[in-house]
Order: sequence, then structure tokens, then C-alpha cells
Amino acid sequence: MQTGISAINEEVQRASAFVRPLFTEIAKVVVGQTYLVERLTVGLLANGHVLLEGVPGLAKTLSVKTMAACINVKFARLQFTPDMLPATSSARKSITRNLAGSRPAKDRFSPT
Ligand SMILES: Nc1ncnc2c1ncn2[C@@H]1O[C@H](COP(=O)(O)OP(=O)(O)O)[C@@H](O)[C@H]1O
Ligand SMILES: [Mg+2]
Repeated sequence: MQTGISAINEEVQRASAFVRPLFTEIAKVVVGQTYLVERLTVGLLANGHVLLEGVPGLAKTLSVKTMAACINVKFARLQFTPDMLPATSSARKSITRNLAGSRPAKDRFSPT
């Protein structure tokens, strides 16, 4: 077995060869959002979870759907909006403003 930096570099090159073509394919559908697509990929490779949070229409769903199509896995989702979340059992983010409306958004989390 080869050891040393060059062997490790070769292995990294070999194992990550799919990344560029994957990003290229996704970019044919999703314009921009490179950070999102990169983080999705990291989440998948780490066998983890990614929470996509943002205002409607920024291609969150489209990015995940496109990723799923590109890697040939089934797309399914649970979509959560604040009104669907029990405030006592999940962390919740809410925006509070003062009467003048000038106060910046403030995170508030439920007890559990
Ligand atoms: N960056 C983008 N690239 C390509 N299409 C986009 C992009 N952002 C929004 N769209 C268009 O807007 C639609 C809504 O995006 P969607 O993924 O449903 O948004 P979100 O899930 O963030 O609410 C997409 O289906 C697509 O037609
Ligand atoms: Mg969506």
C-alpha cells in the first residue's frame, strides 16, 4: 500500500472526482446558490442533516430536488412552517420588532 502525502492527494483526487461534474449538472438547473449546494453535499457526505431555512422562492426545494435527481435518489420532504410546529416541542425562531418597527430580528427559542 502506498503511503505519504502524494498517495493521500491521489486518493482525495480520485474520491472527489464526482464533485465538479455534480456541481456542473446542478448548475444547469439552479442558478447560483453555490454555498447552498456545497453545504448540501457536505451534509450528504457526512451522512448528516441539513436544515434549509429562508424566505420562499430562493430555490431551497429546487436545489434539493435537483441534487436528488443528479445522484439518483428519491426526493421526499417534510415542509415545516412556524404554524405547523408545536412551540413547546421544537426550537422556534420568531421575529420581534418594537413599535417603531426598527428593532432587528431576534431569535427566541421555546423551552425544549
Ligand atoms: N437560483 C435559482 N435558480 C433557478 N430557478 C430558481 C432560482 N431561485 C428560484 N427559482 C425559481 O423559483 C421557483 C421556486 O423555488 P423553490 O425551490 O420552490 O423555492 P423555495 O423552496 O426556496 O421556497 C423554482 O422552482 C424556480 O423556478
Ligand atoms: Mg420550498
